Amino acid sequence: MSVVSLKNITYSVEDKHSKELISILEDVNLQVAVGEFHLITGPSGSGKTTLLQIIATILQPTAGELTLFKRNVTRNNYSSADLFVIRPKIGFLFQSVYLPENLTVKEYLEVQTSLSNIGLISARSKFNELLSQFGISSILNCKPSTLSGGEKQRVALVGLLARDIELLLLDEPTGSLDYENRKNLWELIFKLKKKLTIIAVTHDESIVSKVDVHHKLDYGHLL
Ligand SMILES: Nc1ncnc2c1ncn2[C@@H]1O[C@H](COP(=O)(O)OP(=O)(O)OP(=O)(O)O)[C@@H](O)[C@H]1O
Ligand SMILES: [Mg+2]
Repeated sequence: MSVVSLKNITYSVEDKHSKELISILEDVNLQVAVGEFHLITGPSGSGKTTLLQIIATILQPTAGELTLFKRNVTRNNYSSADLFVIRPKIGFLFQSVYLPENLTVKEYLEVQTSLSNIGLISARSKFNELLSQFGISSILNCKPSTLSGGEKQRVALVGLLARDIELLLLDEPTGSLDYENRKNLWELIFKLKKKLTIIAVTHDESIVSKVDVHHKLDYGHLL
């Protein structure tokens, strides 16, 4: 069963100077089945973030059909009825995560999980278990300014996973990390394989052999 289906997706914007329409994505087709791990690589500016944001329903395509969890969101014109069912199932990890300075890790994770319907007791037990799996239980009462970049990414990932998502979208999750933290974060992400459907975009070609499907994005064209 397809969790994500893109048919002839095109995304165009007006060029700032010439005012002509330029295509950032053109006729993109993609089928992602439940439990698969897809990786999209491509040079800077090739449209990776744009594509991921279309899948997340953050951006709406100019043309084509997007179906998520069997709901054709483009045909239904991004109806609230569809979005309220689909969005809670999706977790989006940004390249540089923002954790509010005034909240401890525990408070941040309580805010994140309160956005879902799982209840405080089960949310706490879920994120405590994930923090332990991710090797960061000791930072529960820390504020973000005392955390490393790798720890912040892991906290943000725990916040998504504790919400019981089904589709994880990763936009260069290791882009701002050093070699050791990159390796550690990818290892944690690969442990999620099969439990979740995952689409990751990255410049990092070192993980290509570990995914189910590898696509290359060549300036708007998905190969
Ligand atoms: N709203 C917009 N208006 C004009 N140009 C845009 C807009 N959104 C994106 N672009 C352009 O579209 C292209 C693709 O951008 P996108 O951010 O998707 O690339 P990317 O592959 O994620 O790049 P990077 O690897 O640097 O993150 C870029 O040239 C960008 O400047
Ligand atoms: Mg990008």
